[in-house]
Amino acid sequence: MKRILITSALPYINGVKHLGNLVGSQLPADLYARFMRAKGYEVAFICATDEHGTPAELAAKEKNTSTAEYCLEMWKIQKNLSDQFHLSFDFFGRSSSESNYKLTQDFATTLKNEGLIKTVKEKQLYSQEDSRFLPDRYVVGKCPECSYERARGDQCENCTRQLQGAELIEPKSVLSGSSKLELRKTNHLYLLQSKLQEKLKEWINEKDDWPILATSIAKKWLTDGEGLQDRSITRDLEWGIPIKTNGITWEGMEDKVFYVWFDAPIAYISATVDWTKATKKDPNEWKTWWLNDHGAEDVYYVQFMAKDNIPFHTLSFPATLLGTKEQWKLVDYIKGFNWLTYEGGKFSTSMRRGIFMNDAIEIFPSDYWRWWLLSNAPETSDSDFTWKSFQSCINKDLADVLGNFVSRLIKFSKSKFGEHIPVGSHYSNLEKNTILEILKYFKAYEESMGIMEIRKSANLLRKIWSLGNEYLQASAPWIVVKKNPEEAGKIVRFGFNLLNFYSDISKPFIPVTCQKIKSCLNISYNEKEWPENKELVFSDLKGGESFFVIENLFSKIGDDKITELQIKFGGN
Ligand code: MF3
Ligand code: ZN
Repeated sequence: MKRILITSALPYINGVKHLGNLVGSQLPADLYARFMRAKGYEVAFICATDEHGTPAELAAKEKNTSTAEYCLEMWKIQKNLSDQFHLSFDFFGRSSSESNYKLTQDFATTLKNEGLIKTVKEKQLYSQEDSRFLPDRYVVGKCPECSYERARGDQCENCTRQLQGAELIEPKSVLSGSSKLELRKTNHLYLLQSKLQEKLKEWINEKDDWPILATSIAKKWLTDGEGLQDRSITRDLEWGIPIKTNGITWEGMEDKVFYVWFDAPIAYISATVDWTKATKKDPNEWKTWWLNDHGAEDVYYVQFMAKDNIPFHTLSFPATLLGTKEQWKLVDYIKGFNWLTYEGGKFSTSMRRGIFMNDAIEIFPSDYWRWWLLSNAPETSDSDFTWKSFQSCINKDLADVLGNFVSRLIKFSKSKFGEHIPVGSHYSNLEKNTILEILKYFKAYEESMGIMEIRKSANLLRKIWSLGNEYLQASAPWIVVKKNPEEAGKIVRFGFNLLNFYSDISKPFIPVTCQKIKSCLNISYNEKEWPENKELVFSDLKGGESFFVIENLFSKIGDDKITELQIKFGGN
């Protein structure tokens, strides 16, 4: 049986993530991990915080603390929030871990020995006032493309163009505000990606089952203009991984660290190292996930990310891995996402526009958010979060469809038959037809979950829930019971079997609710369990089992609440 390695793009350390970040990688990755585990696969679901680079240093400065302390604090906060959203990472590590230092330095050393790293003398912005170079976000100025005033030295937030600090018009230091900047010569290391162009092309061309979103971006970079460019992998910063081999700094690299985009993807591997060291009998088990000559050949590796990350995962990171000529596992499938917008505009961390994970979890339970985000995932195009859409989705799908089925069934059963599931008579045609109908949709649901078609899966699941309501409506036990309690008992028993089935198949989407249903049914919750696609699963509960009444699984969201939230979060 295949083993499945799943990574979700590593969230930047600088601040709590918003819902757009969540749905752009971690949450859909969790859905897939939960599904594959339930289907019996061995899963390694790995994530970590992405801690290096200028955003972390700047955020720490703003808070008047050291970068290391800031990162530790933020790691705890992010870890805690991912627990609250029930993201089932097998390991949530840090790109600043010791193992990532070592692995990143080892990669660079090997690449250098392969002749794939060279030193380039180039001009960088230097601030006299701050006595330092100003890489990436340490400098702001006017965008040469769109004239946006606060474009940063790595990218313009307005038009998304990638920039070099020296291209900015009227550049200023973010630290001192000084515009007394000069161009100074300094050495940087370049990874010679151009030498790997053919290898990468070959590899990408094999990926004919990948979504267009992923391959088209990669192919464009490989074939446009002069093809794949060499890229600088060092920066003039204090915070980051120093340029060393076996503890010895490379000549001329004393005041530099690796560029964050060089070490961050390597953290996928080192977080797996940290995981197996912390939890496994064999601390070297990580090799069976990451090295083809140690068993990783049989692993199916899936990466989840938003579209701006795709070039780094289809080109730069594979170039790092392939360039070593070692047996590193390459990604088998990339699931990329478009943007989630907020009430028609952008989510923005810097402007704090939109809803952030810490606020969200205070307002509604995690399953509400999971359900809205997944059933509206920006898969083939952008999608828009509005409070109105959230309200109607939760009220309809969760409260009216699933919630209503559960409460009608349980309340009726308790009032007529007490706290045990009635035995009743044998299933007749109505049940048999309902089963066939459900199994048909269930088959489609399993298929689309298996290929990560998230919205489609959500639609199918919703359909399966609604078949339960249709069944109750058609069988009308509240009428039948008056003349034929035996028959009504059967209807209720079938209803409980449906409910048990629902709790098994819905858990990748709404795990907390499914646990609640299981405890109401007095059945232990097992995340590794998945029902077989067979009629018999609807006879698991024979009658006689005791159950507990649960109060409403979901509460409806009223108009007042929505207006209040729109005002609070600046909707519309
Ligand atoms: N921190 C990056 C972002 O949020 C993603 C890094 S993914 C990794 O866009 F592979 F580099 F880790
Ligand atoms: Zn611009």
